[in-house]
Amino acid sequence: MEDKLKIVGGTPLKGTIKTQGAKNAALPVMAASLLLKNATLTLENVPKLKDITTMVDLLKVLGADISFHDHKVSISVPDSISWETPAPLVQKMRASSLVLGPLLAREGRAVMPLPGGCSIGSRPIDLHLKGLAKMGASIELQHGAVHASTKGLKGCRIYLDFPSVGATENLLMAAILAEGETVLENVAREPEIVNLADSLRTMGAKIEGEGTGVLRIQGSPDLQGGNVRIIPDRIAACTYILAGVISDGEVTVSDVIPQHFDSLLAKLEEASVDVSFDGNSVSVGPSRKKLKAISLKTLPYPGFPTDVQPQLMAVMSLAQGTSVIKESIFESRFLHVSELKKMGADVELQGNTAIVKGVNHFNCSEVMATDLRAGAALILAGLATEGETVVHGMGHVERGYENIEVNLSSVGAKIASDIGDEDG
Ligand code: EPZ
Repeated sequence: MEDKLKIVGGTPLKGTIKTQGAKNAALPVMAASLLLKNATLTLENVPKLKDITTMVDLLKVLGADISFHDHKVSISVPDSISWETPAPLVQKMRASSLVLGPLLAREGRAVMPLPGGCSIGSRPIDLHLKGLAKMGASIELQHGAVHASTKGLKGCRIYLDFPSVGATENLLMAAILAEGETVLENVAREPEIVNLADSLRTMGAKIEGEGTGVLRIQGSPDLQGGNVRIIPDRIAACTYILAGVISDGEVTVSDVIPQHFDSLLAKLEEASVDVSFDGNSVSVGPSRKKLKAISLKTLPYPGFPTDVQPQLMAVMSLAQGTSVIKESIFESRFLHVSELKKMGADVELQGNTAIVKGVNHFNCSEVMATDLRAGAALILAGLATEGETVVHGMGHVERGYENIEVNLSSVGAKIASDIGDEDG
């Protein structure tokens, strides 16, 4: 797809969009395959995304044999693999750091370039390293890379200073091959953690407490391969639901687990959006004209997800009244604000709080996506805007949304990477 998308907005969307598999569940489960020796892990419902391809490339470089067809990934891990992760792949995708725990636990050593920050924040991995050190690993930072080694990780009690998703996943996977019991406290409770724990249990691991704040893991050296299924992508689902709301449309998102985004549904009801769900689909009815301002703070699950904050801000920019949106997870996740303001939004930033005064409409414009979810927010804003909006930086969006252009066109959006472009 071209690195820009053109949207002629103003059309109320109508129809059903099927949710893709969850990127943030598939990535850690793929990394977990490294815990296996001479065995194969097959994942179903894996989304076709740039980030998944990056993880496939990383696992291949480490020595795994992989096939990826029709949303199914099969990862065969031989007896011996490499324990050095190449810098270009780690710099390309922070989630590459999820191989650190499995590699160290399996090989007794691992070298991994520090992932560095990204546009939404500095994103250190100190909690990952602190936990591995507590399990007995020696951790050295040399030339911007982590050099970790151990004669064998030991189970212990670890309290996370913050319920980090990545640190929970890395330490959970490392604990699987550690000696004895590990208790991880104040851990992340995201559905993606539960999907990882279920997948590890299919491989023979002994885990209790996923979805609660405490995980208890019995070290179990002999794991076996198996088939696991990736949960639906709650963030993609929320994005499509909000596309329905911002376009004043009637949209159903199917193949979801509604409980996974209770926090959004509660906020939509507060904003007077007609929202309903049955079984595994959620629907919204025409609500833009009665949209009311709300206030929210992003929080770890089950709180309101930071990955939906930009998209909801785009919607609230067209609500009646003033919304207050506090971002408590990432220190610089407001890069979409300046682009929304280019389109006529009235947003004032005060530290990690955005004061969003509702306006009647957006003006079409050329805007730049600075990261994955910011890009999704700008596409939503374009759907609500009469005239043509051009969103650049679609490379970011492709990292997390499979066929977003096709999905939105299927419910009536006038969207393409070459509408009206003579040389397109
Ligand atoms: C995961 O990132 C997701 N990525 C992110 O989704 C998501 O925004 C984030 O969780 C929060 O929900 C994947 O699952 C691949 P964290 P992760 O560790 O694991 C600080 C998207 O759009 N922290 O929970 O990196 C950190 O700086 C992406 O799909 C430390 O200080 O998130 C941040 O402020 C974006 N030290 C906060 O905790 C650490 O060692 C949350 O980070 C680890 C984290």
